[in-house]
Amino acid sequence: MKAVVYKGPRDVVVKNVPDAKIEKATDVLVRITTTNICGSDLHMYEGRTDMEPGRIFGHENLGTVVEIGSAVDRVKLGDRVCMPFNIACGFCENCERGLTGFCLIANPGNAGAAYGFAGMGPYSGGQAELLRVPYADFNCLVLPPDAEEKENDYVMLSDIFPTGYHATELAGVQAGDSVVIYGAGPVGLMAAYSSIIKGASKVMVVDMHKDRLALAEKIGAIAVDDSDGSGVEQVMALTAGQGADRGCECVGYQCCDHKGHEVPNLTMNNLVKTVRPTGGIGVVGVFVPEDPHAKDKLAKHGQIAFDFGQFWIKGQHIGTGQANVKAYNRKLCKLIAEGKAKPSFIISHELSLDRAAEGYENFDARKDGWTKVILKPGQ
Ligand SMILES: NC(=O)c1ccc[n+]([C@@H]2O[C@H](COP(=O)([O-])OP(=O)(O)OC[C@H]3O[C@@H](n4cnc5c(N)ncnc54)[C@H](O)[C@@H]3O)[C@@H](O)[C@H]2O)c1
Ligand SMILES: [Zn+2]
Ligand SMILES: [Zn+2]
Repeated sequence: MKAVVYKGPRDVVVKNVPDAKIEKATDVLVRITTTNICGSDLHMYEGRTDMEPGRIFGHENLGTVVEIGSAVDRVKLGDRVCMPFNIACGFCENCERGLTGFCLIANPGNAGAAYGFAGMGPYSGGQAELLRVPYADFNCLVLPPDAEEKENDYVMLSDIFPTGYHATELAGVQAGDSVVIYGAGPVGLMAAYSSIIKGASKVMVVDMHKDRLALAEKIGAIAVDDSDGSGVEQVMALTAGQGADRGCECVGYQCCDHKGHEVPNLTMNNLVKTVRPTGGIGVVGVFVPEDPHAKDKLAKHGQIAFDFGQFWIKGQHIGTGQANVKAYNRKLCKLIAEGKAKPSFIISHELSLDRAAEGYENFDARKDGWTKVILKPGQ
């Protein structure tokens, strides 16, 4: 089969590899029809993780079931399915509580597994023609009859729509709240979209890229252009000097100042500044325990200089981590099916699998107009 293989920093190649196959009775095999490039892939693509060369990328996957393990009961041949990026067993202590991003079984010795992901187990990704799906009865979301027609919407259920929603849950967003979101990448835009769906009264999205900010405006959020470094003051002015009720971090450890230099503590401290006293902060942007290639001395060891005193005095609270996609994907699927949500609005490029390298290069450069890239292995 053809697959997107990581060769080394900023180097991916589409090449023939052995077909994915059923390895356990609880697996299914899925022929991938849509698979996205994610901001999480970029940390690996840039060589800022310990991703091993030779591995297949791709954790935002949708396709058709073409083979079924002997112990699979619910999922049927021909079902169109979308897989959460998390691989979860469904029966461990964390899975039982709905915390499928922290499964204790799928990646032994660690909490959490994923397809094609550094540090999340040996599983191959789905930027390929075929994908092996473990614990398939638990992990496959079988899609409604309009799956083919709305495929570009449903594929967002694999990660970024639930992840954006998770950011708002961690922050505690409720109807009437004001929300500030750092990052207008796919995840930040989905956090803004989720806040709007929840009935937030004012949603402010901070970024430096005008194309991404334009998408935030399109869904009814306020674009806060930080390209002159005035983002924090703008948010304070928009909230009468109080700060927003809730805040979401949708950038992660490679966040930059307005001149493009990495400042790993910037978004976290900006959240402390721009969320009101007793407000909530949800952090879904990825932070890593080790970042040997960081320029910053603390960041090399996964540490940041966090304004803990301000955070404490303001009585804020914070929630972090990988999204438990399964906790939300079924509900968000219904919003798409009923025409109440259309997360495909962020897609700028739909490419064949063969053009993956071009997709990575441009999305990684945050080139103007490249807001979200999806790959179509069948085309
Ligand atoms: N927790 C999870 O489950 C989960 C799931 C998916 C992605 N993620 C993570 O979410 C983060 C965002 O993903 P994405 O796909 O949107 O990535 P992306 O890189 O496309 O978007 C990040 C955006 O943040 C902006 N940015 C950089 N510095 C900023 C700053 N100081 N203030 C405001 N904006 C700033 C960039 O211009 C960019 O538009 C990544 O770290 C990704 O790994 C986490
Ligand atoms: Zn992703
Ligand atoms: Zn589990």
